[in-house]
Amino acid sequence: MTVNNVTLEATVVAKSGFPTKGLPEVALCGRSNVGKSSLINTLVSRKSLARTSQSPGKTRTINFYNVEDALYLVDLPGYGYAKASKTESQKWGAMIEGYLKGRGELRAIALLLDIRHKPNANDLMMYDFIKHYGYKMLTVATKADKIARGKVLTHLKVIRDTLQLHADAPIIPFSSETKTGRDELWCAIREETT
Ligand code: GTP
Ligand code: MG
Repeated sequence: MTVNNVTLEATVVAKSGFPTKGLPEVALCGRSNVGKSSLINTLVSRKSLARTSQSPGKTRTINFYNVEDALYLVDLPGYGYAKASKTESQKWGAMIEGYLKGRGELRAIALLLDIRHKPNANDLMMYDFIKHYGYKMLTVATKADKIARGKVLTHLKVIRDTLQLHADAPIIPFSSETKTGRDELWCAIREETT
């Protein structure tokens, strides 16, 4: 998909700031540093619209990117950020929950998992949360450029087995470096938002 118009429309910490246009939304969630903001830049073909960083904990607010006035890609702060204080983690929890709980516009949540690593307890908690609220989940294995092509399926199987996903449940290998998976993910997003 070619994206001509994209803007960061809202940077939000509480419900009162959520957009009210009623456009369908797809949110990106996952551990800090897994590549959520980079993935948004890749999807919309902008180098640094969403701010990224080598150190985890970059995104601290809920950021609504308006794509062609047709949908929002919603960048969320990551979880499991080791340096975060207890107060910060609690703030994160409240903010994320305030958004994910009963957000009618939210059509799907993309759960991002680093292709190199077995999903951890936080990932599993996030997965349970998504299921609990009944959201459609798009599973994305990020940083696919970091492993040999021949090993992709083995790594996807670790993710699939750890989350106990169906044998045929799709997991999209994705790379913001090589743009692998960009078209496939757009297809999945369009399917949920049109
Ligand atoms: P928080 O905002 O802290 O939750 O992190 P995030 O999930 O938004 O991660 P971000 O997009 O900021 O990326 C973190 C780091 O990983 C940056 O240094 C990125 O350049 C790098 N990165 C992201 N995606 C990829 C990828 O597909 N391949 C490689 N090699 N590096 C990536
Ligand atoms: Mg980020």
